[in-house]
Amino acid sequence: MKNSRCQVHFFPVDITVEIEKGKTILDAAYKGDLFINALCGGDGTCGKCKVVLGSGTIESMPTTHISVSEAQKGYVLACSTKVIGDLEVIIPEESKLDKSQILVSDFPQFSGSLAAATSKVEHFKQDPLVNKIYLELPAPSLDDCMADYERLCKEIMIKADIPLEKITINFDVLKYLPGILRSSDWKVTVTLGYRGPSVEIIEIQGGDVSAGNYGVAVDVGTTTVVAHLLNLSRGDD
Ligand code: FES
Repeated sequence: MKNSRCQVHFFPVDITVEIEKGKTILDAAYKGDLFINALCGGDGTCGKCKVVLGSGTIESMPTTHISVSEAQKGYVLACSTKVIGDLEVIIPEESKLDKSQILVSDFPQFSGSLAAATSKVEHFKQDPLVNKIYLELPAPSLDDCMADYERLCKEIMIKADIPLEKITINFDVLKYLPGILRSSDWKVTVTLGYRGPSVEIIEIQGGDVSAGNYGVAVDVGTTTVVAHLLNLSRGDD
């Protein structure tokens, strides 16, 4: 039973993985938490999962993705190469796929500021769905005994020019409204989410934190997830 398992030693990471005989080098890499570029998901069609065989016994499918000179240097496709005995495998730089990778593009929408992108893309107006506004509310008194929620809405109406009937609030936020207004001396930052015809108060923070309004754009691809963090108030990275 023991010899139905093989050791695959990966370089330059110096990680050894034990795997069942007949599994692929790509399977072994996944088992060792090593990420090899496998754009086609292991179908043998993309040619991205090239690794170099140092020593050991394999069974490899013929492929047009490996040139004659590469084959002479020991290149194989990790997804189409079965592990038959103990192996030493080198993962070349171009085949590595880090667990988390920051992709940088020259495309202005992604690498520069949104403001720079705006100047190049016609008809594009910065209009985030989430805004933060700083409010200084008058403290209640014997002459002004308006309820906390109405007091807050009144300031939002004045500062953000939003009609009262459009403003809504989440009950979880409403519950901590009285506490945060008093503990922040009636100076708060309100996060507003624009949802169709209504504007929802989605968070209330003490003090002025209106500059820290961040949003993340996420592109979920087949093998890569790309995220871009933006300051929505300023429109830059
Ligand atoms: S993963 Fe695409 S060819 Fe190996």
